[in-house]
Amino acid sequence: MVIIIGNQKGGAGKSTLTLLLANYLTQARQRPVTVIDMDYQQSLAQKFERAKVLENAEPYAVIALALDQFGKEKKDLKDNPEVLFLVDLPGKLDDDGLIEVFKAADLAICPFSYDEFSFESTVFFSLVLKKIKPAITIVYVPNRIKANVKYEILTDVNEQLLLLGEVTQAIPDRIDFQRANTFQTPDGVTPLLLPVFDHIYKKHIQQNYERNQEPGGPDAQQD
Ligand SMILES: Nc1ncnc2c1ncn2[C@@H]1O[C@H](COP(=O)(O)OP(=O)(O)O)[C@@H](O)[C@H]1O
Ligand SMILES: [Mg+2]
Repeated sequence: MVIIIGNQKGGAGKSTLTLLLANYLTQARQRPVTVIDMDYQQSLAQKFERAKVLENAEPYAVIALALDQFGKEKKDLKDNPEVLFLVDLPGKLDDDGLIEVFKAADLAICPFSYDEFSFESTVFFSLVLKKIKPAITIVYVPNRIKANVKYEILTDVNEQLLLLGEVTQAIPDRIDFQRANTFQTPDGVTPLLLPVFDHIYKKHIQQNYERNQEPGGPDAQQD
């Protein structure tokens, strides 16, 4: 199963949520995960090279891949339907390499925040994705939400996003998230993530995963 984490907006939390979701799926759900880092700065892959040295056993692989290389890896993805591939996307849309990635995606997770610029980027990302993969499910995750701020456009934004997909519970803005750069999720962060990740897992990942576990499952599956 291929899960893309994307938004055109830089700083939305794509890379952070990718690795926290990878930690969640391996630790809380014991699922096989491979992270594909397509971010131009390839920050995740670099961080994990360092983490590997520090931690004994790495619970999942992190592969850095340029957008134009994705086509070559596609067979590998198809041959391993039981693996949950998490794809951390770059914060830009002007690259034809994204077409193959969007086509291969089974689920899209889109972190965003409630400001106008983020909203425009979020909608733009969604429309491009849906144009290439009309049947895709998009799950919007409000991220870095500050408790003391009244978000004037929250209701309007949610209303618009609900036309394109679903909106999860919000993830608050906490300094602890900035320590989330190894295979370990910082303690204080876990309870903030569980409602969001449990929901995504139960509604969108579990069934797909179990279907692919059945003998002949992936072959019986229609494309
Ligand atoms: N919920 C959060 N609370 C506080 N900081 C966060 C949160 N989510 C992400 N961050 C921080 O925001 C910055 C941008 O996040 P990042 O995941 O790199 O975004 P993107 O990959 O979308 O560009 C990072 O410094 C990260 O630690
Ligand atoms: Mg990133």
